[in-house]
Amino acid sequence: MKAIIPAAGLGTRFLPATKSTPKELLPVLNKPVIQYVVEEALEPSGVDGVVIVNSREKPQIESYFKVDGGYEDMLRSRGKDKEAELVHAASSMPVSFVYQDDPKGLGHAVHCAADAIDGEPFFVLLGDYFVPDRQMCVKMAEVSRAHGNASVIAVAPVPADQVSRYGIIAGECVGSLDGVDAEGEQEGAVWKVTGLVEKPAPEDAPSHLFIVGRYLLSPRIMDLLADQGAGAGGEIQLTDAMERLLAEEEMYAVVVDPDEGCDTGTPAAWAATNARLALADDAQHAGFLEALGDKALGQLG
Ligand code: G1P
Repeated sequence: MKAIIPAAGLGTRFLPATKSTPKELLPVLNKPVIQYVVEEALEPSGVDGVVIVNSREKPQIESYFKVDGGYEDMLRSRGKDKEAELVHAASSMPVSFVYQDDPKGLGHAVHCAADAIDGEPFFVLLGDYFVPDRQMCVKMAEVSRAHGNASVIAVAPVPADQVSRYGIIAGECVGSLDGVDAEGEQEGAVWKVTGLVEKPAPEDAPSHLFIVGRYLLSPRIMDLLADQGAGAGGEIQLTDAMERLLAEEEMYAVVVDPDEGCDTGTPAAWAATNARLALADDAQHAGFLEALGDKALGQLG
């Protein structure tokens, strides 16, 4: 089974940095954002490869994941064996690339990887967000197995005035994750999806559960994406093809806590994610607080 990570966006929110560095390679501590997403994608059992949908303007992503023996040798010759291991580990992951030549939307980006999924169900992980404990996709795989390998998406409650930023589901709660006592919009509740709408106006939203950016999808979606027309924002939307899939196949959603994951989609969110991971890392915690200094710490309250 493969996992697809769309990564062809321009990253305009991070200009001027993203003029020469793809936003996917911006570091959180010492690792590029996309490496966290790749590591998360490889966590559920059965995932044996990650397909990154890249743009031809960002060859740096491909070179990051390519083995560079000369560079590793140079590090080792200077006694930097541990660093050479880190570099080697990043470039030994099962990552392949396809290209999206025209930025026509998320649905179009996913369809660019149609030939790579070998007719199997596949994950999609949006790359502006990653889950450090990597368990969100594992839970989704569990729900899928419990429901005849149906498609599963991760969803979470969102305030009514923010529904128009996201894909929103319609459906009903039909149970909960194994060992979790949850109902309605509580974390761990499992919903049967009956409808999906991308970026609805608040009055048209069928629920307050938004699609978080983690999908486990039936391969049939690739056939539907092949002739999917433009939707919200004039883009080919994955959500619209999923809505069509509902006419043929069952789909489930699992309610998650989006704060389990870290947002890197804006400079402020990216900075907060760096702070959060530095605080959570035993090796970085004390140095981070010291570098921040009393004044900044005071401002944090
Ligand atoms: C995409 C999806 C949307 C989802 C969101 C999560 O929207 O189309 O359904 O809720 O990601 O971040 P975008 O953020 O690309 O507008």
